[in-house]
Amino acid sequence: MPNNTSSGSGASEILISPSILAADFVNLASELRTIESADLIHVDVMDGHFVPNLTIGPPVVKAVKKITTRPLDVHLMIESPETYLELYIDAGADILGVHVEACPHLHGTLGEIRKIGLRKDRVVRSCAVLNPATPAESLEYALDEADQILVMTVNPGFGGQSFIEAMLPKIEKIRGWIESRGLAIDLEVDGGVTKENIGRAASAGANVFVAGTSVFGEDDRKLAIEALRAAGRKGLA
Ligand code: DX5
Ligand code: ZN
Repeated sequence: MPNNTSSGSGASEILISPSILAADFVNLASELRTIESADLIHVDVMDGHFVPNLTIGPPVVKAVKKITTRPLDVHLMIESPETYLELYIDAGADILGVHVEACPHLHGTLGEIRKIGLRKDRVVRSCAVLNPATPAESLEYALDEADQILVMTVNPGFGGQSFIEAMLPKIEKIRGWIESRGLAIDLEVDGGVTKENIGRAASAGANVFVAGTSVFGEDDRKLAIEALRAAGRKGLA
């Protein structure tokens, strides 16, 4: 039996993962304190090659880990991510996402994420990420090694873009596989998530929602997180 049949939160729970890419980096510690009601903290790592932008690396992930109680949902938008898995796990990643497009040995790389965690007496959840143009089928035969699947709803590289509605059927297809195979994989969406569209993503089958602008663009982050959660739950109902 694959070991992702008993973990994960299932589609009935809405999890909000604010992306710190949209935070004020000068005041990162106080920004993090405003999102303690979130379920996860989404950390966007970009290398200037896989995506045309550069963000942060392991030392900042380590610093973030020290000052938040929430699990870190680390999204690697980098080439050759298999080279850096241990570095990000040691820095504090609780969920580690690698792009399907950057992983010729996706099945092995996802398995490696779990194994490195276990070697360190930690549970590190593996996540496979799909760019908008990448079909769901590209990870179909690696599902047993995934604890989470992330469907990008923008082309990665920048915050503040618009949600691509054409991703909804892809979310539905992957949720169908998860249900029919009895897997407990979390299904995450990332990019342009707002309280206006989160319900549609939830009813398509997503249960984890990355939100940069729609959390950090609001003065009251707690209220923004709650509004997203409530709108997501409505979509499930
Ligand atoms: C895009 C990143 C996203 C981004 C989301 O490449 O992966 O996580 O920060 O930001 P918003 O919610 O503003 O689209
Ligand atoms: Zn991201």
